[in-house]
This record gives sequence, C-alpha cells and structure tokens, in this order.
Amino acid sequence: MTEPNAPDRLVLRRPDDWHVHLRDGAMLADVARHTARQFARAIVMPNLKPPVTTVAAAAAYRERIVAATGPGFTPLMTCYLHDGIAPDELVRGHGEGVFTAAKLYPAHATTNSAAGVTDVRHITAALEAMQRIGMPLLLHGEVTDHGTDIFDREAAFIDRVLIGLVRDFPALKIVFEHITTYEAVAFVEAGPATIAATITPHHLLINRNAMFEGGIRPHAYCLPVAKRETHRLALRRAATSGNPKFFLGTDSAPHAVGDKESACGCAGIFNAPFALESYARVFEEEGVLDRLQGFASEFGPDFYGLPRNADFITLERAASPVPARIAAAGTEVVPFHAGETLGWRFAG
Ligand code: DOR
Ligand code: ZN
Repeated sequence: MTEPNAPDRLVLRRPDDWHVHLRDGAMLADVARHTARQFARAIVMPNLKPPVTTVAAAAAYRERIVAATGPGFTPLMTCYLHDGIAPDELVRGHGEGVFTAAKLYPAHATTNSAAGVTDVRHITAALEAMQRIGMPLLLHGEVTDHGTDIFDREAAFIDRVLIGLVRDFPALKIVFEHITTYEAVAFVEAGPATIAATITPHHLLINRNAMFEGGIRPHAYCLPVAKRETHRLALRRAATSGNPKFFLGTDSAPHAVGDKESACGCAGIFNAPFALESYARVFEEEGVLDRLQGFASEFGPDFYGLPRNADFITLERAASPVPARIAAAGTEVVPFHAGETLGWRFAG
C-alpha cells in the first residue's frame, strides 16, 4: 500500500547502523564504504578470525576501519565474549572509549562463533561488570543444540537463556539482535525498558520461502534463518510501530559469491549498499514513512545513551537499480535485492 500524497523526498536525520559486519583486509577495504556512505556510525561485530576479544585488537581494528572509510564515519567497537573473558578487559575497554558494547555469540551459532560462549553462567562476572558500568550486551539469540529445530532456535533461546538474563541482571542493557520471530517481538514489547531489539531489512522483506524459490537460493540464507510469513508480519508491525524498543540494525554480512554458492554456503546477506532504500520500501508499504526517522536515526542512539546525529540525509523517489554483483576483495559479492529496482534512492 502506498500512502496517498506520498512524498517524493524524505529528509531524515542521518541514521546509524546498530549491527554490521565489516570484515577485515581486502573485504573491509571494499565493503565498509557502503555502510559509511549512508550511516554516521555503526556497531561493528567482532566475529573476525581470530575474534576481537581484547581492547588492543578492537583499537587496531577500529583504525583499519577508519583507514578504509576515511573521516566522517564512526565505528563503534564491540568485544567478542568467550568463556574466559576477563571483566577487567571489558571495564578498561569501555572506560577508554574503545568498546561500546559486548557481543554474545553462543558457541557455534553462526559465522566464526566457535570460540563463543558455551554457557552464560561462565560469563556471570563479565555480565555483572557490564551491568555496573552501563555497557550494553548484544545477543545473538539462538540456542545451538542440534536437537532443536533451526526454525525454533530463537524462541527456545528466549525460554532457556533470555528470561533468566533479564531476571538476574535487571539493570543490564540488552539488545536482542536481528530478531526473526513474533515470540521475540512479544518478549521485547513486554519486557522492561532495559531490553531492545534490532531488525534487519531482509527479515522485513523475505520469509523462509525465499530460500527455496524454484530451487535452493543461497543468497537468501542468513542466521537467524528467515521464518514463516506470520513472523515476518510481526516484525514489520514492530519495526513500523513507532515503539522505540525496535531500531535499525542491518546485519549486513558480505561473503564472496563462491562462499555462498557452495555445497555448504555461508550465512549472511550483504545489504549495506541499498540498506536505507530497502527499509524505506517497508515503511512505505506499511503507510508510515513518517516513522522511518525514529527507527533509523533516533531510537538507536537513545537506547545506547549516545547523541542523535546532527546532520541530515535525503532519500528521493527514483529508480535504484541494484546490480547483480558488486566487486569486492578481488571477487564479487551478491547484494540483497540483486537485479531488482528499488523505488527510493539515497541522494546523500
Ligand atoms: O547471517 C549471518 N551472518 N548471521 C550471523 O549471525 C553472522 C553473519 C556473518 O558474520 O556472516
Ligand atoms: Zn550479525
């Protein structure tokens, strides 16, 4: 549904991306600029090889990102939590302005998560320290046991882990990342003000059928995996509701085309090049373009306790053809919406 009298230009306070994978090396050099073109800041995920577990590693990674993007973009760094994390490392990194937050990957949940947390009880001291200093915990919210169906892993995480975390750490700020289910929407809505969630463009636009449309479609595969249509509709209602607990996090996760189109293809969707165009489509279809600014530019910084950006960007109603592939790291990456034409264009 398009709004009657829909505008041809949207001027928005500059958005931030509260969840992105910028990679490293040659891939970083080629993908980071896509994020820096649209967003002022981004929460940068630490699942490199090896993962970013120390203040020194995060500070060095931040320098490599800034070298890749140039000035005008602020990477907000995260610490990769693991069973042996020292609370002092988190406290020092946060105090020195290096770590904005820490990311909990359940071990083996996703790309480069083998060194993640095997049981949240192993990081109790770290969580207590984070709660004390006001450092947000970012969650990949899926259980990893093979007995749990892949489509049920997020809902099971709420029951088995998240309810206990919220109860035991009542002042800890928690971001439930890239939510994919109505159970997650309902939990965040009903929860205390300390819990919020990010929502990706792809989970707003595709359901699990997209992975099997006429054949196996590796470019629609990400983690948490897209769920059935009822869940997508719940996510759209949450994202476009104006509830400040839900904000923008793309989870843009580039992989070389050969690593996706493989007998064991990597999880991840590269949506950074047209991220705002993609979100704008959703808000327009829901008839609430006027709520895009809150979701994209206001609720995230408010939750993190950071200032909103002072400058503005413009989206124009114009055809945005999305290329089939984008060159990166001496190979190519297939972007989200490859081959489609979107109806909004980021104009700077
Ligand atoms: O699809 C995903 N890709 N989900 C994740 O959790 C990680 C990410 C990646 O790093 O490739
Ligand atoms: Zn991610």
